[in-house]
Amino acid sequence: MTDYGKRFRLDGKVALVSGAARGIGAEIALALAQAGARVIVSDVADGGGRATAQAIAAAGGSADACVHDVTVEAQWEAAVALAQHRYGRLDVLVNNAGIETAALLAQCTLDDFRRVMDINVNGVFLGVKHAIRAMAKPQGQGGSIINLSSVAGLIGTTGHAAYHTSKGAVRLLTKAAAVECAQLGTGIRVNSVHPAIVATDMGTNFIQHFVDLGLAPDYATAEAAIKAAHPLGRFGEPADVASAVVYLASDAAQWVTGTELVLDGGYTAA
Ligand SMILES: NC(=O)c1ccc[n+]([C@@H]2O[C@H](COP(=O)([O-])OP(=O)(O)OC[C@H]3O[C@@H](n4cnc5c(N)ncnc54)[C@H](O)[C@@H]3O)[C@@H](O)[C@H]2O)c1
Repeated sequence: MTDYGKRFRLDGKVALVSGAARGIGAEIALALAQAGARVIVSDVADGGGRATAQAIAAAGGSADACVHDVTVEAQWEAAVALAQHRYGRLDVLVNNAGIETAALLAQCTLDDFRRVMDINVNGVFLGVKHAIRAMAKPQGQGGSIINLSSVAGLIGTTGHAAYHTSKGAVRLLTKAAAVECAQLGTGIRVNSVHPAIVATDMGTNFIQHFVDLGLAPDYATAEAAIKAAHPLGRFGEPADVASAVVYLASDAAQWVTGTELVLDGGYTAA
């Protein structure tokens, strides 16, 4: 008989989470560790996410922090090598690091547009590339790659064109990688998750930008209007995203690849 509790566990697996110093990435790292994975926490800030690694260790899990800018290919090689040297394998990559900017298209500078693409798209591409090199059968054991897109990768809004463009690219990079990895027999699944507004620094900034762009008179008005667009009546919590990532990382999702898992309290269904 299938042991479903075991299928959702990650015991024995090794995971790398980018941008895990705070917010959604930190919660994903904690959740993967609680489900049994050994975790490489990586970030460009905060000593590579040292506080997150310490929180995992304090909870009885296993984690290392790694200073890692996702736009630098040599730092991807070093982060993946850390997993391989420390644990001999890499099973799960979560491409979580990302930034957001706001500007009306007529005012958006090419530098700002490029910066968003560099971190949100090029950074994910490099992660996918180096995870495939580490995970692909027959040298590797296969694995699961999970990319943080957004509802912004599915629909547009005023004032965030660069961010929408980047998250739309992540959605299709995911599908292309999923098909290629499946058809080449690598044993690697690749999926994207698409949260609506989640209560983090980025979520707060996103709401504030509506005020800064003159689209809402004040923060409270913008927050109420955006919250009302989520039929479940609340913003997401990092745990809502982390739970989905644990599922996609686990053997319970063995037949799931190239999918876009929308986590939005009904935002895009309305
Ligand atoms: N918060 C939301 O409402 C929301 C909604 C949908 C999708 N997302 C996506 O979820 C992911 C995490 O978002 P969050 O809300 O936790 O953001 P956040 O701003 O709170 O945290 C982002 C983390 O990424 C790190 N980072 C930034 N640039 C980096 C780089 N070049 N290299 C490595 N790390 C870098 C930061 O240091 C930070 O720790 C992002 O990809 C974001 O686009 C967020």
